[in-house]
This record gives sequence, C-alpha cells and structure tokens, in this order.
Amino acid sequence: MAAIRSICRHVLRTTSAPSLVTRRSTLAYSSAALRRDWTAKDAGAGGFKVCVCGGAGGIGQPMSMLMAMNESVSELSVQDVTMAMVPPGGVAADLGHLEFPSKVKGYAIDPSKPAVDQLEACLTGCNLVLIPAGVPRKPGMTRDDLFNINANIARGLVEACAQFCPDAIIGVIVNPVNSVVPAMIEIYKKKGLDPMKICGVTTLDVVRANKFVADATGKSPQDINIPVVGGHAGTTILPLFSQDPIGATLTPEQVAVLDPRTQDGGTEVVEAKAGKGSATLSMAYSGARFGSAVLKGLAGTPTTECTYVQSSVTDLPYFSSKVTFGKNGVEKVHEVGPMNAHESERFKQACTQLKSEIDKGLEYAAAI
Ligand code: NAD
Ligand code: LMR
Repeated sequence: MAAIRSICRHVLRTTSAPSLVTRRSTLAYSSAALRRDWTAKDAGAGGFKVCVCGGAGGIGQPMSMLMAMNESVSELSVQDVTMAMVPPGGVAADLGHLEFPSKVKGYAIDPSKPAVDQLEACLTGCNLVLIPAGVPRKPGMTRDDLFNINANIARGLVEACAQFCPDAIIGVIVNPVNSVVPAMIEIYKKKGLDPMKICGVTTLDVVRANKFVADATGKSPQDINIPVVGGHAGTTILPLFSQDPIGATLTPEQVAVLDPRTQDGGTEVVEAKAGKGSATLSMAYSGARFGSAVLKGLAGTPTTECTYVQSSVTDLPYFSSKVTFGKNGVEKVHEVGPMNAHESERFKQACTQLKSEIDKGLEYAAAI
C-alpha cells in the first residue's frame, strides 16, 4: 500500500492540471482510482489529435506519455527520425498499452529528405503540435549556440505543419526559443498563415519560479503562479514576483537570489547533467502543462499561460506574457502588468537582449 501511495503521489506531481492537484485529498490510493482521476482531468470536449516532434528524445518521451494520458487526446503522433535512440514506433507501442483512450502512432522520417514529403499522415488533423525536436546544449554552451542546427530542424517541421495542419497550435520548445520562434512565425507569415498559431513554450520558467518561491516561503507551489515574461534565455527571463500574492512577500534579499536562479535554472540542470543533456523531465511536465492549457482552450474553457508570441504589448514584435487560449487558439495576449522598481529595471535589460535575439530569427527568415 505504501508503494502504491508513493507512485500515486509521484504521478500526481508530474501532471499538468491544477484541477488534478485539488483532487489530491480525495484520491483513493488504488490504480482504479488513479485512472479515474486522470480521466477526470480534462473532462469536457475531447477528440484532439496531438503530435510530439522529437517524441523519442529526452523531453519527447515523457512529454508524449503525459499527452497520451490526457483525456482530451484521442490520437497522439510520436514523430522522430529513423536513427533516433529509440524508434518512435517503439515509443508509440509502449505508450499504446497505457489504460487511456488515446491511440498512439509512431512516425520516423529520414532527415536527409524534406519533412514535408514524409509527414502527411502524422500531421493531418492535428490540433496541437509540440516541437522539442533538436539538439540540447552542453556545459559552457549558450542556447544561442544551437541556433543554426535547431532552426533548420524546426523549419522542416513547421513547413510540414503549414502544409498539413495549418490551423494547429504549434508549441516550439526547441532552443533558442527567443530566435527560433520569430523565424518560424515569419515563415508562416510568408505563407499567408496565421502568426498566432505559433507559440514559444516558456512554461518551464514559470514552473521553476513557482517552485523556488515555494521553497523559500514554505508555501505550497500549487498556491503560487509567478508570471515570467520576456523570453527564454538568461536576462530575458523576467519573473514578476510582485504580481503574485506569495511572491510579493519576498524580501529584496530573497529576490536577489531567486531572480538570477530563475534565469539560470536551465544552466543549473545542464551543469548537473554534466554533458548528458539539459532539462527533460521538468520540461516534459511543463510542455504537458502548456499543451493541457491549449487543449482546454480549444475545448471551450479559456485557459491562461505565459507564452512567447507575436505581440504588441511592448515595443518588441515578439514577447512572452500571459496569453489566454480559447476555442480558436490564442484569444488574448495580456499586458505585462504592474512592475516594481527592480522589475522595471530588469525589464529594460530583458528587452535589450531579446531584441538582438529576435533580430537573429528575423534575419534567418529573411534569407529564405
Ligand atoms: P534530445 O536530444 O534528447 O531529443 C531531441 C530529439 O529530437 C531526438 O530524439 C532527435 O532524434 C530528435 N530529432 C532531431 N531531428 C529531428 C527531426 N528533423 N524530426 C524529428 N525529430 C528530430 O534533446 P532534448 O533534451 O529532448 O531537448 C530538445 C530541445 O529542447 C533542445 O533544443 C533543448 O535545448 C530544448 N529545451 C527547451 C526547453 C524550453 O524551456 N523551451 C527546456 C528544455 C529543453
Ligand atoms: C532550460 O531552460 O532548461 C532549457 O532551455 C534547456 C537549456 O539549455 O537550459
């Protein structure tokens, strides 16, 4: 019984839905109860098709698992390359035995050939495509160092989405998000497609800020929701602690520790993994939290997450702030909101770095 309890607690902590967390106290510790709890998670309209590109990778596998366990998902495509560490068909076969309604299929492509020629069945009908496909950094590297290789991988996949599922929301996880997302959105614009379909996934920064504030204050992370705005690299990651009731209780000394720790959360994991990759499990959790928000919105329950999109809330053309997802995807991009003196100063630094990283993405797209 103790072992089952421990597994239940673990799974509950690795899910995305706040509603699930609030149900924790009523959970009966049996596998049947656990299954019922998951089934209730995104109750409401469902039948969504989701694709995870890079689905056999470090993020892709656990994130595919969490999406396969989402009650709103009727079909999940696990897409990767033919020489992936694990064949995507194998990941799909494995996930296909979970006791959830989703049908899971694997798709392997030859990366020496255009993705668009190989992904019709994989992408057709998709409502949501999550893209962690690409290379992670090693100690000593910046996310920006990954741009050339990862922008080309993302381009192939985004062009295939443009062809086969142009109405799907695309969650770009692959780094550097600050440059890859503007590049991909410009490609969509050149094709006459809706730029608001492409979002940079910055949820992990919110998740980290929530956890760090919880640890510092002794409060539950479930009661904390720190908006993290700007972008997803270094100083562009701007946690607005003052906008959350618990975050607002931090002393300036605590903020002086937690602000840089939130900015450097990725590097903390890269160094701890010592050359064997970057954040995968916390990212899978965060990607599934983002995916759950999108699907809830599409199902008719407006749901808000911070995400990096084409934006007019600052002077920059791309910016991460709270975004509400509704039946058609992005419904509202929210203002950054009130900032204290420290945050206003940091906002200026964030915008300076972000501008040059946006420009890099725009130059890439202009050269196509
Ligand atoms: P990984 O190497 O473990 O997995 C990447 C997967 O992508 C591999 O399975 C690889 O075969 C696959 N791939 C490569 N080319 C492909 C293509 N053309 N089509 C489909 N799949 C392809 O790496 P990971 O740890 O999963 O990280 C992936 C990316 O996510 C990295 O760029 C990393 O920096 C980024 N990341 C972003 C965040 C964020 O907060 N946005 C967080 C963590 C990691
Ligand atoms: C993260 O924030 O963990 C990711 O962007 C991966 C990285 O390279 O830090």
